[in-house]
Amino acid sequence: MTNHIFIKDRIKSFNTKITVGSDKSISIRSILLASQAVGVSKITNLLESDDVLNTLKTIRKLGVSYKKIKNVYNIEGYGINGFNIKKNTIIDAGNSGTLARLILGLLVKTKYKIKLIGDKSLSKRDFSRVIKPLRLFGANIKSNNNFLPIEIEGTNFLRPIQYSEDIGSAQVKSCIILSALNSPGITCINAKRSRDHTELMLKFLKYPIKIKNSSEFQAISIQGQNQFNAFNYNVPGDISSAAFFIVLTILSTKSKMIIKNVNINPSRIGIITILNKMGAAIKFKNKKIYNGEKIADIYVKSKKNLFSINCPSKLNSSAIDEFLIIFLVAAKAKGVSRFKELGEMNKKESKRLDLGIKFLKLIGIKVDRYKNNINIRGNPDLFLSDNFEMKDFLKDHRIFFLSCITALTLGGKWKINDKDSINSSFPSFLKILKNIGAKIN
Ligand code: S3P
Repeated sequence: MTNHIFIKDRIKSFNTKITVGSDKSISIRSILLASQAVGVSKITNLLESDDVLNTLKTIRKLGVSYKKIKNVYNIEGYGINGFNIKKNTIIDAGNSGTLARLILGLLVKTKYKIKLIGDKSLSKRDFSRVIKPLRLFGANIKSNNNFLPIEIEGTNFLRPIQYSEDIGSAQVKSCIILSALNSPGITCINAKRSRDHTELMLKFLKYPIKIKNSSEFQAISIQGQNQFNAFNYNVPGDISSAAFFIVLTILSTKSKMIIKNVNINPSRIGIITILNKMGAAIKFKNKKIYNGEKIADIYVKSKKNLFSINCPSKLNSSAIDEFLIIFLVAAKAKGVSRFKELGEMNKKESKRLDLGIKFLKLIGIKVDRYKNNINIRGNPDLFLSDNFEMKDFLKDHRIFFLSCITALTLGGKWKINDKDSINSSFPSFLKILKNIGAKIN
């Protein structure tokens, strides 16, 4: 089967209402926490993407069963440390850094060695950031110089830890929180702020976790070894998927879009702050709170005059997965946009900072780089008519989405490879685009 698409025309004006794929971070967390709850949890609107399906396969390998009945995933947990683990278990996290790092947190007390593997991209990502705290808890870990494959063997002599998490990584923070559930005593984390879905879900489950937020840090304390009951959860839309449709609308002509029921957790909406500062008029309507998470419909329309931004680095963590598409807006804005301290972008599914710059240059935008800071010289008149083939961009789903949105808004004749990368986070992406009039072959 072919694994590429062609886009040869810009999208025509649209005025539409859509729903994007469910939130990946929340989908993965809801499964992992259901695997630790007592009883049958019922999860609806779960994102059925590869990363999430790999999470389901993982808990099944660890002895937790689930059944999909109509659109409800029923997951039967046996409490904290309730996994039923067999000898020589191998877990394949596929492309998912979130699954790989979070599941390690739940394995600090396993009685047998478990091997964790992943795909080519995940095998290039450094795990030292989680290996270090896991060893402090007492887990025995062997790795390939901090890369996969990793072997973890739990211990019965777990101890709570005090840890400073200063990268601002929700994966590291959540890995520690999940280990703390297994450990006796109180674990304390001083974490640079990052998405807080794990904490909010545990609060919603009435788990004894305390959080004190300051402007840049969170002081979190977790009392270990408390059981919690099974729960019901309905997963909202993913702002990281909505981001591509928001930018599609802003850069199209005379178009409007409503994106229904999206998670607008303050730790995730850096892109909205950034784009509104650049002149977009994105609004949230029908706001509500569901199980501790903020949800809203997003209203967005086309915008001709966009301004450059001097982006404060304190927004980096809340927009970390969205910078690629934000760069495209900067490419169309008047003036020089500045982004700082974006080294974390290079630690994702691909080296996204390097590849983002390569992409901007490919479409004729001047970019200056100093270490992990970049200046993008915008060109509001930028339209494309050349032929482009996207092939050396390492199967990163977000680079695939970026290429499609660029083709549909700026023009040119595009062949975009690695179509199946969309399955990792947003399988319905192309279908939604076609429904709103995009011509994709
Ligand atoms: C995620 C956290 C972020 C993000 C990733 C999902 C999560 O990674 O980039 O796509 O669900 O915890 P880091 O925690 O490494 O920044």
